[in-house]
Amino acid sequence: MKNVLIIGSTGQIGTELTLELRKRYQGNVVAGYIPGAEPKGELLETGPAEIVDITSGSQIAEVVSTYKIDTIYNLAALLSAVAEAKPQLAWKVGMDGLFNVLEVARQYKCAVFTPSSIGVFGNNTPKDKTPQDTIRNPRTMYGVTKVGGELLSDYYYIRFGVDTRSVRFPGLISYIAPPGGGTTDYAVDIYYSAIRGTRFVCPIAAGTFMDMMYMPDALHAAIQLMEADPARLVHRNAFNVAAMSFDPEIIYENIRRYVPDFTMAYDVDPLRQSIADSWPNSLDDTCAREEWDWRPAYDLDMMTQDMLSKLRARI
Ligand code: SER
Repeated sequence: MKNVLIIGSTGQIGTELTLELRKRYQGNVVAGYIPGAEPKGELLETGPAEIVDITSGSQIAEVVSTYKIDTIYNLAALLSAVAEAKPQLAWKVGMDGLFNVLEVARQYKCAVFTPSSIGVFGNNTPKDKTPQDTIRNPRTMYGVTKVGGELLSDYYYIRFGVDTRSVRFPGLISYIAPPGGGTTDYAVDIYYSAIRGTRFVCPIAAGTFMDMMYMPDALHAAIQLMEADPARLVHRNAFNVAAMSFDPEIIYENIRRYVPDFTMAYDVDPLRQSIADSWPNSLDDTCAREEWDWRPAYDLDMMTQDMLSKLRARI
């Protein structure tokens, strides 16, 4: 029996993670949402849903107490490009919001998962096979809140014993909920263009490598880490996890194997490009592999085949 609250359940990760958790756990898996982003369809029909605005500690506490929540998945966030447009709001959600979650978790003895990101790294970080423990000096508000979130989560574990755990997600690719305003979004949008038969205009320059992951692996990472034996965890906030690394040309050529007449042009967005340039080309995820047996299932080609067939059926 496990009672789980997902904050941000209707977002890119939450939409799928909530359903996956409901398949696995018998207890309450509560879909937390904010007005204007109400759960619909299967998400609404398969379990309880409550308004949980991360900026309100009392709202979080009320739902945690009512449903006897023992684990919180805190997925509320503004992605990197949006956070540059709204840095104050990004701080309010990413830092003040996380503080609210951790305080409730301390009082009600909940475990907490908060995604971190490749966005914690910056221009001084080693770019290739970026190590687990290295320089984190982002120059984006997204990255600042993610580094701050890692440190604050570790603090709550060390100081108060709150069971906080996290992974540094790369760009996440899925065919269900679209991402909103990230730097890695192009790797999702490109599949929609391929299926719709339109030319893809890529906002990221050729030769820009970033780590990416297919959503089933990301869900698996979050759940597997939260279920891992704590005695084995040397690290907590947050683990490097990796599945694949590519640039726009590589994903384009891979899609063309299955959609031969697909075309792509470039119109580089300076903001997204500068963020992408500051992020690693690839991460070293040895610690996650050793401490909780992390292994991704999908490589680029498997992901492309699955994305194209699932999107073809949906569109
Ligand atoms: N996908 C995120 C972004 O591009 C990175 O964690 O903002």
